[in-house]
Amino acid sequence: MVADANVRMAELDQILERRDRDPGDLLQILREIQELRGYIDPATVTYLASQLGIPRARIEGVAGFYSFLHLQPHGEYRVLFSDNITDRMLGNQQLLEVMCHQLWLQPGKVSEDGLVSIDMTSCTGMCDQGPAMLVNGRAITRLTLQRVQEITHLIRNRTPMADWSADFFRVEDNVRRSGPILDNKLAPGEALRIGLNIGGTAIVEEVKKSGLRGRGGAGFPTGLKWEACRNASGTIKHVVCNADEGEPGTFKDRVLLTRQADMVFEGMTLCAQAIGAQHGYLYLRGEYRYLLEPLQEVLQRRRDSNLLGKSILGQAGFDFDIEIHLGAGAYICGEESALIESLEGERGIPRNRPPFPVTHGYMQQPTAVDNVETFCSAALAIQMGADAFRAIGTEKSSGSKLISVSGDCPRPGIYEYPFGVSVREVLQDCGAVNTRAVQVSGPSGICVAEHEFHRKLGFEDLPTAGAFMVFDDSRDMFEVARNFVQFFAHESCGFCTPCRVGTSMLKQTMNKIADGHGTQHDLREVEHLDHVLQTTSHCGLGRTACNPVLHTLRHFRPAYENRLKSLDFEPGFDLDGALERARQMTGRDDAGAHLNTEEA
Ligand SMILES: Cc1cc2nc3c(=O)[nH]c(=O)nc-3n(C[C@H](O)[C@H](O)[C@H](O)COP(=O)(O)O)c2cc1C
Ligand code: SF4
Repeated sequence: MVADANVRMAELDQILERRDRDPGDLLQILREIQELRGYIDPATVTYLASQLGIPRARIEGVAGFYSFLHLQPHGEYRVLFSDNITDRMLGNQQLLEVMCHQLWLQPGKVSEDGLVSIDMTSCTGMCDQGPAMLVNGRAITRLTLQRVQEITHLIRNRTPMADWSADFFRVEDNVRRSGPILDNKLAPGEALRIGLNIGGTAIVEEVKKSGLRGRGGAGFPTGLKWEACRNASGTIKHVVCNADEGEPGTFKDRVLLTRQADMVFEGMTLCAQAIGAQHGYLYLRGEYRYLLEPLQEVLQRRRDSNLLGKSILGQAGFDFDIEIHLGAGAYICGEESALIESLEGERGIPRNRPPFPVTHGYMQQPTAVDNVETFCSAALAIQMGADAFRAIGTEKSSGSKLISVSGDCPRPGIYEYPFGVSVREVLQDCGAVNTRAVQVSGPSGICVAEHEFHRKLGFEDLPTAGAFMVFDDSRDMFEVARNFVQFFAHESCGFCTPCRVGTSMLKQTMNKIADGHGTQHDLREVEHLDHVLQTTSHCGLGRTACNPVLHTLRHFRPAYENRLKSLDFEPGFDLDGALERARQMTGRDDAGAHLNTEEA
């Protein structure tokens, strides 16, 4: 017993040593403990508190925030089925039921012998090869009934995951159409050498001239961001690559990190040179844990080639290195200020802005946060020159864009196009037929119906972070919106009341309508709720949470109305009538003494 306790303590000490006992690394420490032990037990929390010099409450608060960390046992095998709408369309719920049935288990519960738990998780970024699941954090794709039965068998026999067939864990790239980024043969250091020749100011000018805008969703001009960070006061600066890629239906960063990791790191190092940063962080979503070791290898190779580290490419004073931090299952950490909080080992709650990260980012120091694809595009712009880059795409949307295509089409995967491609062209290329709608840029994006398929992807018309989910005419768009609303309710960080309560009300309203108890009043209420969330939410999640319902209502109203109890709301209680006695007592009968029944 004592020997066991000593081993456990030694394991913890090793993790703590590797992390310099830095409370700022709390999330990474907890994640490593979780990986080792399957959960973080109370004695470990106490020990960490004493070793890191922080209260237990902070450790429990952080562990409780991230859905991949557990303060209680969750089974030797923790199975999480990916629950994006595209997984549902491919039958994930039936597969979950089969597995639960075979293991005598209810979803969300741990088996009595502590062997296994089965639950759902938000989109795992494998929509091109779903249905997908995570087992102890490792992604398994292309699930079929046979695969699920094989996995059930392995779990029942307690087969160590190291002995499972490697084919389970194979993740395909599914590149269907490539362009200047995916075809790029940039030699490591090539763009960096150009950068060294022209200098930091000129890099910023070139990126500005290229017209590059952020690929993470908001489309902020990258050159302006780098310039603001360069000009920000402070000697210590940071570059952060946002590889959290949590928007359901998006998986293009996964493919870039697999195929073009050098280009991503080259872009980050160029940014460091431009803004004068010494430290870089790649924040990798926990679902992409399998990419950690290959990415570490690329970083090491770059260090060995003097493309990272001290005096990069012999330039005295150009010192920069990159660390990889893993997320732990929180979509909100894709929001840049929440991501910075998470990097600092805190719960991923978005910060008040301003101040913006360019002046007060990581450790309150100037920080440039950019998307994976943005860094690739920046490296490309420097490699090919701003004018050549600008010649690709459209006037306000220069360059190319990676689109993650999933849903009802025979060729899901990654398509790289110059900006300005129409929805119809993408549908043709992926072989989609009888398409009813396309959800562009994920649940927070835009639902495009058939009469709008001429619309073009780009900042002028349909801005997108990359998701392109296809729904054919067999799909019920009400159920699509319901899935998205459940996602927002699940992922709201709970910091602001309107979003916490509003997303949950929205979910209840959709469930009520699905159960046949909804009325027109409920539909009007969604519009009110949207107004409240738009005006009071602290971050983009709350502000866009009603979009799926409003957009599908606009195009597919019958999908809602067919489910309503009656087309008009009839109150069960006459509130105005109940005020009659009060009117008599006060001797009033003017309009002001009546409720406005129109609005009620
Ligand atoms: C709820 C929410 C989630 C987000 N998730 C991501 C994400 O997964 N990846 C990303 O690059 N940007 C995401 N963003 C946008 C980031 O906040 C930020 O704008 C982006 O990282 C900036 O990089 P860019 O200028 O290169 O686009 C998200 C924003 C919000 C509000
Ligand atoms: S809007 Fe929602 S997700 Fe954003 S900070 Fe508020 S509660 Fe969190």
